[in-house]
Amino acid sequence: MVGLAAIVALGAGGWFAYNARQSSVITAASPSLPTGSIAASPSASPSPDTLLRHFAYAEAPQAELQPINGDGGIKLRKSAAEAFRQMSGAAQAEGIILAPLSAFRSLSDQQHVFFEVKAERSQTPNQRAEVSAPPGYSEHHTGYAIDVGDGNVPATNLSPSFDQTAAFKWLKQNAVRFNFELSFPKNNPQGVTYEPWHWRFVGDRQSLETFYKARKP
Ligand code: DAL
Ligand code: ZN
Repeated sequence: MVGLAAIVALGAGGWFAYNARQSSVITAASPSLPTGSIAASPSASPSPDTLLRHFAYAEAPQAELQPINGDGGIKLRKSAAEAFRQMSGAAQAEGIILAPLSAFRSLSDQQHVFFEVKAERSQTPNQRAEVSAPPGYSEHHTGYAIDVGDGNVPATNLSPSFDQTAAFKWLKQNAVRFNFELSFPKNNPQGVTYEPWHWRFVGDRQSLETFYKARKP
């Protein structure tokens, strides 16, 4: 499952990070700091374009994707990859390591993320959708979304406690300069659980239309 570093879900007893290869489990503390830059999400009303409060997204064409770093496993659309590299460089100059954890995910990746983990955790579709989008409905399909960790504090990867790291605080202050924004702030209108690690690129016409164009009623 190329480029799929880890999968996240909120279980009854806490937060868990599911590694696609090893099924490793990580627990973490509850969030306590305010949310970062807030995305103005489209209406969360049910519509033909939504499923379980998630919006439909097309899978980015492979030709549009580009590895964001040397190992090649984690990819974004070219515009987003370039912006992320610039943002990482700026952060690094201040001693902050923005660690890419998961970016583009195919429909088949998300099929696994949603259904296999759902079954493993005995979750209803609604419970699963609080933390994971069904296949066909994840921002990760677009090639514009990326999960970011703090390379200095990997224990907070994919956990609400990421918002207490220097990396999150840096992103909150600076991500907008590189056209990234938080997709799922606290109390987001979609009802998706707070994800301080999940950022999306909105720095060109196509990405802006992808996330902001009015949905069908
Ligand atoms: N965790 C986000 C909602 C996703 O699966 O796309
Ligand atoms: Zn994500």
